[in-house]
Amino acid sequence: SGKKGVFSVCWHTKAEDINIKIALCFPDAVAYAALLRNELLGAGIETVPDPHTDDRRNTLVTQDTHSLFRYTIHTKRVPFDNEISPYSLSPLSNKSHKLLRSPRKPARKISKIPFKVLDAPELQDDFYLNLVDWSAGNLLSVGLGACVYLWSACTSQVTRLCDLSVDGDSVTSVCWNERGSLVAVGTHKGFVQIWDAAGGRKLTSLEGHSARVGALAWNGEQLSSGSRDRVILQRDVRTPPPVERRLQGHRQEVCGLKWSPDHQHLASGGNDNKLLVWNSSSLLPVQQYSDHLAAVKAIAWSPHQHGLLASGGGTADRCLRFWNTLTGQALQSTDTGSQVCNLAWSKHANELVSTHGYSQNQILVWKYPSLTQVAKLTGHSYRVLYLAVSPDGEAIVTGAGDETLRFWNVFSKTRCTKESKSVLNLFTRIR
Ligand SMILES: *[C@@H]1O[C@H](CO)[C@@H](O)[C@H](O)[C@H]1NC(C)=O
Ligand SMILES: *[C@@H]1O[C@H](CO)[C@@H](O)[C@H](O)[C@H]1NC(C)=O
Repeated sequence: SGKKGVFSVCWHTKAEDINIKIALCFPDAVAYAALLRNELLGAGIETVPDPHTDDRRNTLVTQDTHSLFRYTIHTKRVPFDNEISPYSLSPLSNKSHKLLRSPRKPARKISKIPFKVLDAPELQDDFYLNLVDWSAGNLLSVGLGACVYLWSACTSQVTRLCDLSVDGDSVTSVCWNERGSLVAVGTHKGFVQIWDAAGGRKLTSLEGHSARVGALAWNGEQLSSGSRDRVILQRDVRTPPPVERRLQGHRQEVCGLKWSPDHQHLASGGNDNKLLVWNSSSLLPVQQYSDHLAAVKAIAWSPHQHGLLASGGGTADRCLRFWNTLTGQALQSTDTGSQVCNLAWSKHANELVSTHGYSQNQILVWKYPSLTQVAKLTGHSYRVLYLAVSPDGEAIVTGAGDETLRFWNVFSKTRCTKESKSVLNLFTRIR
């Protein structure tokens, strides 16, 4: 049988390694892995760990060979019932009998329908722009033509933050700072404006680029801006006039920019098909990846694994690629079948979402590291160029040249509802 096949493939390795191989090969592999731990190592696992609500397990298993022992800590001691086990004639231990009979949680369902659709007239169909961002304070900033609008996800109230038409300019990128107090606005003429969102006033307008600014990324009080002039400018917005670092490495327009969660490295993608990594003091890239065959706009650092970077390529490439930036090593890659426009990791589970162009204009949810597809969402009639994640990490918003913003629930929190109802969590309930 298939099961016997798996066992014999892995038998020569240490018991810990068996988890990895089986877990990656078979959907029900977690149960078999746990069973083997019981029988070989006397691990005493009685319930099957749920692969759908604890996806960090996959990386833990591959990185930490003792991780399976953790299941015993979380295992609820169900009182053993007197029902005759269907496995009672098997030679397995009675812990393993319990394991085989323990209930499995059903697979997580992701709704294929957006929970909200907003009209976004004049939302540009331009691959090189970044026109949607979602703040820590639950405000969406959206660049529509010459204006930036703020939409409150709490009250649905809309305010117009700025209108650049008086200067004959238009919006090419928007980006919230980490606290959600400031919005940086990149413009077609190459300016970077800093706006105080609550006060609705412009704090400063930074010069320095000679062409449109399509990519922005905050790192504390520092703002990085990437432009069609091929340069990335790194500026501290507190000091007037700002101290400036010029990062030169791309040979064409810079279209993707992301700082790593530990604030140490900046990843940039360009129309020259290059993915570059810079450190916080370098003027030249510390790493350069040339594997993509088209523009690299989609870039996302893993919040779960230090130094893990994901990137996606344009129409001639269509690939998702993963990099260990600590070693410079290329990891997994997969051909998605269409232009990759944007990428974001879930902060709750080891999953990521990618948005795509021709021909299906789809949104895909992937598990990492297996790269199995969890969901495919369709509905946009133009390529899905814009993507932002809600501050609670559960929802995403996507935008396209069909002039709609669509909100989807794709990432559920792993925290179970039982926990939040507990009397021990009185304070979170009051809050
Ligand atoms: C579990 O197995 C042991 C022997 O391996 C036996 O003594 C014990 O009674 C069993 N427990 C139950 C609840 O069946
Ligand atoms: C950045 O990289 C350069 C060149 O590799 C190196 O000399 C420098 O120490 C690095 N700086 C930091 C802060 O890591």
